Amino acid sequence: MASIGFLGVGTISEAMVRAMASRADSTDRLLLSPRSAERSERLAAEFDACERLASNQAVIDASDIVVLGMRPQQVDEALADLRFRDDQIIASLIAGTPPSGIAPLVAPASRVCQLIPLPAIALRRGPLVIAPPLPEVVAALAGLGEIVALQDESLIRTLSCASAFMSTYYEMQNALIDWIAAQGIDEHTASRYIRAELDGLAAIGWATPDSERRDLPQEHQTKGGLNERVRARLLEAGWFDELVTTIDAVYQTARLR
Ligand SMILES: NC(=O)c1ccc[n+]([C@@H]2O[C@H](COP(=O)([O-])OP(=O)(O)OC[C@H]3O[C@@H](n4cnc5c(N)ncnc54)[C@H](OP(=O)(O)O)[C@@H]3O)[C@@H](O)[C@H]2O)c1
Repeated sequence: MASIGFLGVGTISEAMVRAMASRADSTDRLLLSPRSAERSERLAAEFDACERLASNQAVIDASDIVVLGMRPQQVDEALADLRFRDDQIIASLIAGTPPSGIAPLVAPASRVCQLIPLPAIALRRGPLVIAPPLPEVVAALAGLGEIVALQDESLIRTLSCASAFMSTYYEMQNALIDWIAAQGIDEHTASRYIRAELDGLAAIGWATPDSERRDLPQEHQTKGGLNERVRARLLEAGWFDELVTTIDAVYQTARLR
């Protein structure tokens, strides 16, 4: 059993707390900082494992692992007057600042890692990057999704940028739903159809052995059929090249602290 403190209980911390607190076998204590009062009070009321403490310092003092969950521009001010211990582990959610950038702010604590949870963590699904994979934090994250460990913090940016198609994915989902509805099928039916289709495709994509993933496009089209025609047209239009070029442009210009 570990005591895991959250400094900053915003959108992504709440998703993590919900996922951690609702694991069947969890014995960890989850200690919440008092800001975002309505949210932290709600979580403390909902889950026995959660407790809202009176101050940030009280959270640090009672925690084995401290999760930093504030926004990048809030970090300096939030940590300025706080005292950490050298036996503490820091797990930072803060985008754009690698562990080496956080370390000076939390000294004498020196074991620092970065976590990149995605919103699906609320369902205990999806990838959860940890760099470097400190064993105590990996253990605390068990069951929250697919743990992806990076030893080298300079690689965090690659995975962060590669996942920057989430809003694009839902834009694509909604464009398909809107097209069906425009043909005269009611929007609810259109929505159920496309979202169930995407759910099924993702399930097959995940269940397929990695060695066979390149076969999936071919396996999901018939020669001369509708799928082949759509894919060929989008390949010709440079759709997939444009996706990679855009992700690469974001990668090239992403700034690290
Ligand atoms: N959202 C995502 O999908 C996602 C994914 C991966 C990583 N991240 C990273 O996670 C961090 C949080 O993102 P978010 O979307 O969850 O932001 P958010 O919803 O704005 O949450 C920030 C939280 O920090 C609190 N806070 C601010 N200053 C504080 C202080 N001095 N002491 C204690 N708490 C303080 C805020 O409280 P108040 O509401 O009272 O101001 C709020 O609860 C960011 O660094 C982001 O880069 C986010």
